[in-house]
Amino acid sequence: MTIVDSLNGDTVENIKGLLRELVQIPAPAGHEGRVRQAIQEIITPHVDSIKVDALGNLIARKGRKAADGRHILLSAHMDEIGVIATHIDANGFVRFTSVGALFLRYLPGGHVRFLDGARGLVGVNIEPGQTKFPSMEQMFLDVGASNRQDCPVQVGDLAVFDRPMLEIGNRVVGKSLDNRTGVAVLIEVIRSLGESPHTFTFVFSVQEELSRQGAMTAAFASDAEMAIAVDVTTSGDTPQAARMAVSLGGGPAIKVRDQGMIADARIVRWMADSAEQAGIPHQYEVLELGTTDAQMIQVAREGIPSGCLSIPLRYLHSPAEMVDLNDLAQTYALLTRLLTGKAAF
Ligand code: CO
Ligand code: ZN
Repeated sequence: MTIVDSLNGDTVENIKGLLRELVQIPAPAGHEGRVRQAIQEIITPHVDSIKVDALGNLIARKGRKAADGRHILLSAHMDEIGVIATHIDANGFVRFTSVGALFLRYLPGGHVRFLDGARGLVGVNIEPGQTKFPSMEQMFLDVGASNRQDCPVQVGDLAVFDRPMLEIGNRVVGKSLDNRTGVAVLIEVIRSLGESPHTFTFVFSVQEELSRQGAMTAAFASDAEMAIAVDVTTSGDTPQAARMAVSLGGGPAIKVRDQGMIADARIVRWMADSAEQAGIPHQYEVLELGTTDAQMIQVAREGIPSGCLSIPLRYLHSPAEMVDLNDLAQTYALLTRLLTGKAAF
């Protein structure tokens, strides 16, 4: 019997329950307080110590290192992409720019929610005869105002996509599944973790969607010997997708390389061997656009060998990102196995 077969239905239900709670909390980069609070409440009973650092990272420690144990850092970013108001016009329309990487194609018609609760939608102006996709300058937020005075939004206010989570078959669709799925899986790993020879630093990091500032300082402060980021990756399984050997439902993707880093080869092998031994389906990720916390962690202090376990995801950075529940469960299974077995080196 493999770990896969012994995964009980509770794991999937637990992760889904966490996702449902976490996805609806707005937490654009730099404003992670509310989601951090929720994570802190859930994991505090399951760790030895927990603190919030100067930048807002949530950092928990757990376990005592045995003779053959290592200090392993795990990082999942808790922030999400969003928009920020740049200008309010005389008719109360809000101009905006991005916080993190926004794709214009996903914006028109979308709903947004500001941190104070104000709602809006993305309107767009098209020039007569325009055939090119509208630019961000042609877009605006309609927040129901009719002039600058009654506009509930001020310059500098932040908003995130506003969309309820949806289940389609074995798949979940929603905003901020990058990276609330990684957060949910890591929480479930923490609260079910059994005996381990290792000691752990768990980081729920801030501002990954900007320049991974949170992971940079959290890794600097730790004396970890190796690190794993838990994040999402794009897939190559939609019509005319860029050529990429990652599919939804194929299991966790072991990062080999992305735009910002080459994963430590020993960690790649450790992940692959562990998955093979346990019969956990897995794939290899070579990502051409984008990177993760691991990029910063590997260059912290004198260097921390790092890798990344990625959850396959479609429609990255859209209001309707999609993941497969099986991939979440298998990512949980592989992470649990990695953290309780012999380390990479
Ligand atoms: Co992202
Ligand atoms: Zn991410």
